[in-house]
Amino acid sequence: MNIKGRTVTLRAIDVQDMEFMRKMINDPQMEHLVVGWSFPVSSTQQEKWFASAIVDKRNQRFVIETPEDGKVGIFVLADIDWKNRTADAGIKLADSKVRRKGVGTDATMAIMRYAFDELNLNRLTAEWLEENIASQKMHLKCGYQVEGCIRNCIYKNGSYHNLIVGGILREEYYQMIEENKYWD
Ligand SMILES: CC(C)(COP(=O)(O)OP(=O)(O)OC[C@H]1O[C@@H](n2cnc3c(N)ncnc32)[C@H](O)[C@@H]1OP(=O)(O)O)[C@@H](O)C(=O)NCCC(=O)NCCS
Repeated sequence: MNIKGRTVTLRAIDVQDMEFMRKMINDPQMEHLVVGWSFPVSSTQQEKWFASAIVDKRNQRFVIETPEDGKVGIFVLADIDWKNRTADAGIKLADSKVRRKGVGTDATMAIMRYAFDELNLNRLTAEWLEENIASQKMHLKCGYQVEGCIRNCIYKNGSYHNLIVGGILREEYYQMIEENKYWD
């Protein structure tokens, strides 16, 4: 089942998406915005990674598509813990031209509906660099609460950065959509 937002669709990653994903992972500007890190990735490495990614049940990756621009980014539900019913949510929109148009919000709302209504998860966690205002604003708009700050936890671009940990519980999501009528 594809995951639908108001406008976005999240679908499974496919082998044809590997070049798109490789470009994103090799983009220095993206690397500076996000928490993870990587060495440069070749197409051979990317193909090998794909073979392991499609059988990885603990980490589910989706391509975000919009009707106007097609493939615009990826969403990851990582470290899905079926006992404690938690997962870590991560989003990347590849091109700055598609940002600030509500795509991140809609994709995050869609993933929450999927996580809580379909996967029966109870909590989602998201982490962002303290200076990533776009990520913080989007997560707060989507109902996440800031739960903590891990100081000097991430080293990149020549200095240490604070990591903000955010989270949303299932009941908070339900209360939010009751109030903001997102899906009505
Ligand atoms: C973070 C990201 C997913 C946000 O998605 P987006 O589609 O640009 O965000 P939205 O358009 O849904 O905006 C959500 C809110 O954040 C605000 N916002 C978004 N980008 C902003 C920016 N650069 N500066 C200030 N506010 C910003 C919007 O104004 C909106 O709030 P509002 O409705 O009150 O005006 C996107 O910027 C992105 O992919 N960035 C690069 C990768 C990244 O940082 N990923 C997150 C790592 S944890």
